[in-house]
Amino acid sequence: ALTSELGKQIKLKEVEGTLLQLATVDNWNQIQSFEAKPDDLLICTYPKAGTTWIQEIVDMIEQNGDVEKCQRAIIQQRHPFIEWARPPQPSARNAKDCMVSYYHFQRMNHKLPDPGTWEEYFETFINGKVVWGSWFDHVKGWWEMKDRYQILFLFYEDIKRDPKHEIQKVMKFMGKNLDETVLDKIVQETSFEKMKENPMTNRSTVSKSIMDQSISPFMRKGTVGDWKNHFTVAQNERFDEVYRKKMEGTSINFCMEL
Ligand code: A3P
Repeated sequence: ALTSELGKQIKLKEVEGTLLQLATVDNWNQIQSFEAKPDDLLICTYPKAGTTWIQEIVDMIEQNGDVEKCQRAIIQQRHPFIEWARPPQPSARNAKDCMVSYYHFQRMNHKLPDPGTWEEYFETFINGKVVWGSWFDHVKGWWEMKDRYQILFLFYEDIKRDPKHEIQKVMKFMGKNLDETVLDKIVQETSFEKMKENPMTNRSTVSKSIMDQSISPFMRKGTVGDWKNHFTVAQNERFDEVYRKKMEGTSINFCMEL
């Protein structure tokens, strides 16, 4: 009974056009009135954009590269989600890779709606009818906000291309100054291969009834451009058309392959 209860999908509800978990909606007032302290750090990522990756990088910097300290708890506990009303910095990843990653995530995560076929999911995603809302709204919103507040806007593709350079940016943003050797260690420890093996980041402690990693591993591929293995030529054309319309007027530019 416990297993089936655990395996049950979460209830969803829309707030201002954005699909969220019912538990989040129920706590909406509290979440909206959250006041950050001056030194609070909020990680604001679109689902599947590399949340876990930037969480681990931030904690490694915070702990001055101390691997053992970063093993003190699973990542979900070290950096709780604000929208789960337990007590979120933007990181963006290109929409096509996000869509692919999110599709596989919904296949394996029984708490989230079944994604249906890839063709069906393609429509759901471009219409923003996924939990946590539209990729377009997330990225546009934070991009417009970034110069008005103390926001460090990071791209998944940049971290992938030059992890050390990007980790250094995060470090400076956090007001830290770590040695070259510590930085190199953080680069190593936060690589896809390491994080895939690390029980504190790979969700291996989550029950199979919630996340079935035999369907698709939580640490799936960790690459730029996997969308090319999923998008048909027609889907790609349609996507680019939708993208042009929805992102009209923004200066943001995504790298689609390395
Ligand atoms: P893929 O499904 O394309 O492999 P989130 O943490 O927001 O759920 O994002 C998950 C995505 O980030 C997955 O993408 C996952 O493999 C990727 N990822 C996690 N850790 C990573 C790392 N250290 N390096 C590169 N990609 C990483």
